[in-house]
Amino acid sequence: SVAYFNGDFIKVDDAVMPLEERGLQFGDSVYEVIRVYNGKPYTLIEHLQRLLISSESIMLASPNVMELEELVLQGIDKLQMQSGTIYLQITRGSASRNHEFPIDAHQNLMAIWKVDEGVISTPDQGVKLKSFPDERWKKCFIKSTCLLPNVLAKEKAKRKGCYEALLIRDAEIKECSAMNVFIVKDGVVKTPPADQSILNGITRQKVLSLASQNGLLTSETVLTIEDIEVADEIFITSTTKELIPVTQVDNFIIGNGKLGENFSLIHRLYKEDVI
Ligand code: PDD
Repeated sequence: SVAYFNGDFIKVDDAVMPLEERGLQFGDSVYEVIRVYNGKPYTLIEHLQRLLISSESIMLASPNVMELEELVLQGIDKLQMQSGTIYLQITRGSASRNHEFPIDAHQNLMAIWKVDEGVISTPDQGVKLKSFPDERWKKCFIKSTCLLPNVLAKEKAKRKGCYEALLIRDAEIKECSAMNVFIVKDGVVKTPPADQSILNGITRQKVLSLASQNGLLTSETVLTIEDIEVADEIFITSTTKELIPVTQVDNFIIGNGKLGENFSLIHRLYKEDVI
């Protein structure tokens, strides 16, 4: 693996972050996670465009997308990375602790590239979700590092033997702590609308387009617990986990408790797309 901090490639374990840093002290920062397949960053531009939206939404000067693209490729090249994950983070900068924006601080830009074997396994029994009230703020479309509610929900789910937490707000299903959610009912692939209350996952968008390109009906629509009770199939998506089938939510067994045919088709389409 290799890391980058403000202009230099460094070792991941090298200490470079000033202690008085707004990302650390306030979560005043935004980030992206990108997968590399066959030496190429998958949907890189989409991720960088979303980083731009996140930055602008927290009044952070926009990053230069072309420079970031160049940086991402440099790291891949340095490691001769075939498969792996890239983490990018921009913080408002280092400054003496004070809530208001510092006048003279410079953004800190950091990145980490991690090589892996490229085998993202799909649990063939499907996973369980546990539902929780969504305790996050109202701007979850911003990919910010203020992730405490996400982290707590994920840990609580894990302690109940579940793979992910399903976050519910105003009786609506929103997403998981770090993944988007899909429900298939009567052949229609449904997912909650990408308003301000969820992160508009790049994998989510890819799944919607692959599904419709291949003749499946898709719908971005409000979903509730009742939709879970009658769901034929449920699956969850993210860059790092790809598509994961869900066979239980709380006490409900989904469909017949086995992997669904729509999941298997869309999963195959996704695997074909990344290579
Ligand atoms: N998480 N929803 C939330 C809250 C997320 O944090 C993520 C991604 C997603 C899926 O988005 P995408 O398909 O663009 O990865 C949905 C990343 C992977 C993370 O925090 O590690």
